[in-house]
Amino acid sequence: MGDQPATSGKSAENGARHVAIIMDGNGRWAKKRGLPRAIGHQRGVEAVRRLVRAVEPMNLDCLTLYAFSSENWKRSEDEVDDLMNLMRRFIKSDLAEFVANGVKLKIIGDWQALAPDIVAMLEDALERTSKGTQTLAVALNYGSQHEIARAAAKAGEHGAITPESIQAQLDTHDLPPLDLLIRTSGEIRLSNFLLWQAAYAEMLFVDTLWPDFKPEHLQEALDDFARRERRYGGR
Ligand code: FPP
Repeated sequence: MGDQPATSGKSAENGARHVAIIMDGNGRWAKKRGLPRAIGHQRGVEAVRRLVRAVEPMNLDCLTLYAFSSENWKRSEDEVDDLMNLMRRFIKSDLAEFVANGVKLKIIGDWQALAPDIVAMLEDALERTSKGTQTLAVALNYGSQHEIARAAAKAGEHGAITPESIQAQLDTHDLPPLDLLIRTSGEIRLSNFLLWQAAYAEMLFVDTLWPDFKPEHLQEALDDFARRERRYGGR
């Protein structure tokens, strides 16, 4: 994914394969500078672009980003429009680069309920990136409680409702287990993101506001992860 300088990468046994990020703090980044929130979101997209380009040298199999939650509809109409327009522009400007760099796009959440033109763009992007080897999963109109409820209902249609049968119906069923969940901007909560998947994930809360988040920050997080001892409830 791109041409960032090589970083220290992961060690085979301790490296994270799947990292998810709650990208928070665009609004505060803009406010601190006396700028409109929309500019904060624009700079947030640039942070996304930088990070996606850095994922290949970091050897990650999957990066999952919380781009629009099912609760974000409560924001002003202008802000929702800004976010949707950024999404449109981002797909248009970066899709060819994704394809060239082996990025496989995946969308989680109730994304089919977005505007029809965005749904069509996403379907095209999913198709064109389907041969990629490193996954960029983007959560759009996503809420974890709904995802779990939908998965449990589907599991029930096919047989017994068990953790395994629910897991198999989650939007993330084909992604590697979540290793590390990062939230930026100093807030310490999950905001209805990957609640099931985070059961054994390591968590990292950093003060950096999302537009300031750089590949170096992710590399630091991966290095920190590699030093942690994960016991999955055992000793
Ligand atoms: C949180 O900042 C961020 C969001 C609600 C949206 C995240 C979206 C982006 C980074 C841009 C769109 C992404 C793509 C992939 C095109 P906030 O507005 O809640 O910040 P605040 O808490 O400081 O107000």
